[in-house]
Amino acid sequence: MIKPIKGFSKLSKSEKIEWITATYFNDAKTAKQAIQQYWNTDRKLQQLHDEFIENTITNYYLPFGVAPNFLINGKLYTIPMAIEESSVVAAASKAAKFWLDRGGFKTKVISTTKIGQVHFMYHGSFSKLQAFFKTVKPKLIEDTKHITKSMEKRGGGILDIELRNKTEDLKDYYQLHATFETLDAMGANFINSCLEQFAKTFKMEALHFEEFSEAESHIQIVMSILSNYVPNCLVRAEVSCPVEDLNENKTLSSEEFAHKFVQAVKIAEIEPYRAVTHNKGIMNGIDAVVLATGNDFRAIEAGAHAYASRNGRYSSLSHAEIKDGIFTFWLEIPLALGTVGGLTNLHPLVKVALEMLHQPDAKELMQIVAAAGLAQNFAALRSLTTTGIQEGHMKMHLMNMLNQLHATKDEKKKMVAYFKHNTVTHNAVEKALISIRMLADE
Ligand code: MEV
Repeated sequence: MIKPIKGFSKLSKSEKIEWITATYFNDAKTAKQAIQQYWNTDRKLQQLHDEFIENTITNYYLPFGVAPNFLINGKLYTIPMAIEESSVVAAASKAAKFWLDRGGFKTKVISTTKIGQVHFMYHGSFSKLQAFFKTVKPKLIEDTKHITKSMEKRGGGILDIELRNKTEDLKDYYQLHATFETLDAMGANFINSCLEQFAKTFKMEALHFEEFSEAESHIQIVMSILSNYVPNCLVRAEVSCPVEDLNENKTLSSEEFAHKFVQAVKIAEIEPYRAVTHNKGIMNGIDAVVLATGNDFRAIEAGAHAYASRNGRYSSLSHAEIKDGIFTFWLEIPLALGTVGGLTNLHPLVKVALEMLHQPDAKELMQIVAAAGLAQNFAALRSLTTTGIQEGHMKMHLMNMLNQLHATKDEKKKMVAYFKHNTVTHNAVEKALISIRMLADE
């Protein structure tokens, strides 16, 4: 039986590995090697990565790929993508190339407001609470001046604070619902610091508000935290062209393809089972760029899916139509991104990614990320409505299978050539590799 360990975080990195490998592995030596082979020989770089989180024992690599030829609002980008799923970068590149010849992506930022809330319990009259809020609101803002000063200098800061009565949903529950403009910072630290200060001031001032009874003056702060639901930090990306220009596929006419494509999107609009997978395809592109640029993909995921459910039923984030012979395909998604602070000034590859993107500000990055999401969605729907997804997927997955089967460089070359004209399945790859090896032995 494995016993809990005390003081694990205080152990050195080697001691941690020692304990883990001895406790959980039959072959501790091999496990240790697997962990240590990813240590960086550059000690400073390794230390930087060690200190991003706690209890670091090694580094976990993801491929960092690039998708060139993204024409966005007339400017050409090569988009960095960090992702493990084969075919995502290839699909993005293919879609970018397709739209490069058809006017590229048109994007715009619709809004940039972020939200944070102080959640509290109050037992008493709502009108007295409203009166208190009115008197304390200027002080709430005043007391955060030490936090907001430099953000305000740059044109951002606290936009507003509202008192919200949530007692219909939960007894005695109220909120300070605050809106923020955090410019090029994702803003989590800024917003959370402001909220915690609001909470402190609010609680303290309530103790001295004359109209409150003794019970009313004791406001109970439950928590203060930003919201990752940012429906007012929204970006739109769009592609469009005459229907007849869509033709690239030999099996379908342009008209047939356009109609089938629009049907596929409409299905995702009304059918949640399909919408989840449809949006997952969008997030393949979004997350990969979000990760490469050092942003928080969990926050983006949470916000995007909440937005997809905003009308009470989970639905597609993208839409398509054919009007007057023009095919238009667009995406609207909330993206709270930063290009300063966080990992952006720390991780060497994030710096590379941002420089490759011409050092965008947060608004430009929102548009680039949205274009990557739309491209990914276009590529997936194009395959799904024509050849099916497996053909391309399995071709891209071929290399993973060959690596699993320990194929040599030469064998890989032969196999790639062979599977250009043959269907890739696990079975077929195994068989073809065996016969190549047998031929080589003869
Ligand atoms: C796979 O990672 C993503 C797709 O399933 C997206 C879709 O079905 O639209 C291909």
